[in-house]
Amino acid sequence: MDNILVKNILVGISGGIAAYKSAELVRLFKKAGYEVRVCMTAGACEFITPLTLQALSGNPVHSALLDTEAEAGMGHIELARWADLVIIAPATADLMARLRAGMANDLLSTVVLATDAPVHIAPAMNQQMWAHPATQENVAVLQQRHKLHGPAAGEQACGDVGYGRMLEPQEIYDGVIRSFGDRKLSGHRLLITAGPTREPLDPVRYLTNRSSGKMGYAIAEAASAMGAQVVLVSGPTRLSVSNSIKRITIETAEEMLAAVTNEVANADLFIAAAAVSDYRLKSVSSTKMKKNKDSNVLQLDLVENPDVLATTSHANPDLFTVGFAAETNDVIKYASGKLIKKGLDLIVANQVGADKGFDVETNQVDILTADGNHHVLPEMNKSLLAYEILAIICQYYLATDTSDT
Ligand code: CTP
Repeated sequence: MDNILVKNILVGISGGIAAYKSAELVRLFKKAGYEVRVCMTAGACEFITPLTLQALSGNPVHSALLDTEAEAGMGHIELARWADLVIIAPATADLMARLRAGMANDLLSTVVLATDAPVHIAPAMNQQMWAHPATQENVAVLQQRHKLHGPAAGEQACGDVGYGRMLEPQEIYDGVIRSFGDRKLSGHRLLITAGPTREPLDPVRYLTNRSSGKMGYAIAEAASAMGAQVVLVSGPTRLSVSNSIKRITIETAEEMLAAVTNEVANADLFIAAAAVSDYRLKSVSSTKMKKNKDSNVLQLDLVENPDVLATTSHANPDLFTVGFAAETNDVIKYASGKLIKKGLDLIVANQVGADKGFDVETNQVDILTADGNHHVLPEMNKSLLAYEILAIICQYYLATDTSDT
C-alpha cells in the first residue's frame, strides 16, 4: 500500500520574483496543520529573507548543502527522508534545467535527487524563457517524473505578457492537496448519501435539520475527480453537481433508504454523509393542520425512521461502508459506538453545534477505523477535506478491495 498520508511538507524556493508569494504558500500549509520546512536556493535568499520563512514555518530554513551545523541537526539526507511531499515554488528555468539533468549542486537539487517523496513543481519565469525549446524539453522530461502546477498566462513582473507567471499560492495549495487522491478510485463505484431529509407534517410543513449537504457533495465531487463512478442520493439542498455524477433527489428517510437499496448492488463503497431525520410523523395530515383553539400546546406523535446506513451495511456485509457521526459532545465515544453498532469499516466524526460542522465552510474531523486506528485531520475547507477523507478511506478500502479494477 502506498503512503498517501502526508504530514511533512518541504517547500523549495528558487530565485525568482515570485519567491515572495511562497510565504503565503507556507502559511496555507501551516494553517491546514502540516509540518512545514523550507529549503531555499542562494538566489531565493536575494528575493525573500530566510527569517520571514523561518517565522512562518516555525522551523529553521535550510539553504546550504555543506553546512556542518545543519548536517549535525538535519542534513540533506534527513531532510529528503523527512519530507512526505516536496513542492518547489517558484521553480526557475535554471532550477528546472538542473533538476532535469539530475544535478546535485545545491541543497534543493540534492534533496530532489535524494527523496522518494512526490515532487511538485510550480514554474515561474519570463514568457520567452518558458517558450524556449530548451525549457520546453526540460518541462516534457520533468512532467514524467514530477507533478507540474502551471504556469499561468498573464502580465509579468518584467512587463511581458504570456505564459510563465507562477500560479497563485492558493491554486498551488489546492493542486497539491487534490493530488493526494489522484485517480486512485478509477473503476470503483461509490454510493454517497448527502444533505438533510425532510419529513412532512402536512402539505405545507416539515421537520428537517441544519445540514447543507456541503460535505457529502464535496466527497462526491472529489471521488468523481479521483476517477470513481459516483451515485449521490441527496436530500433537499441548494447545491449543484457535476454532470459526471448521477444524482437521485429524495425528501424523506424512507425515500432515501429505497433509493440506496435500489442502487447498492452496483456499489463497491458506500459513504453515508446525510443528516437523516431520526423520526417522522406517525400520520401525516393530508390537509393543512389548523391551530388548536383549546390548547396552546401541540403534541406530535413521531415514529423512528429506518437507519439507512445500518440497514445497508447489515444487508451487505461485504460492502465497504463509511458513516459520519455528528456530535455535540463526547465525539469519539459516540462515534466509536456507532462504528460498532452500525457495522462500519470506518467512521468520520465531527463536533457540531454553534458555528461548527453544519452549514459552514470548514470542518475538523477525526477518523476511526474498525481495526482501531485513529486519524486526526486539521480544520480545513470542506472541498479539500473531502480529498483528505477519501485519501484515508482509500488506504483501508483499497487494501480490502479484491476486484480486478
Ligand atoms: N444515518 C442513517 N440513517 C439514519 C440515521 C443516521 O443513514 N436514520 C447515518 C448518517 O448518515 C451517518 C450515521 O448514520 O452516517 C450517523 O448519524 P448520526 O445522526 O450521527 O447518528 P444517529 O444514528 O442518528 O444517532 P443519534 O442521532 O442518536 O446520535
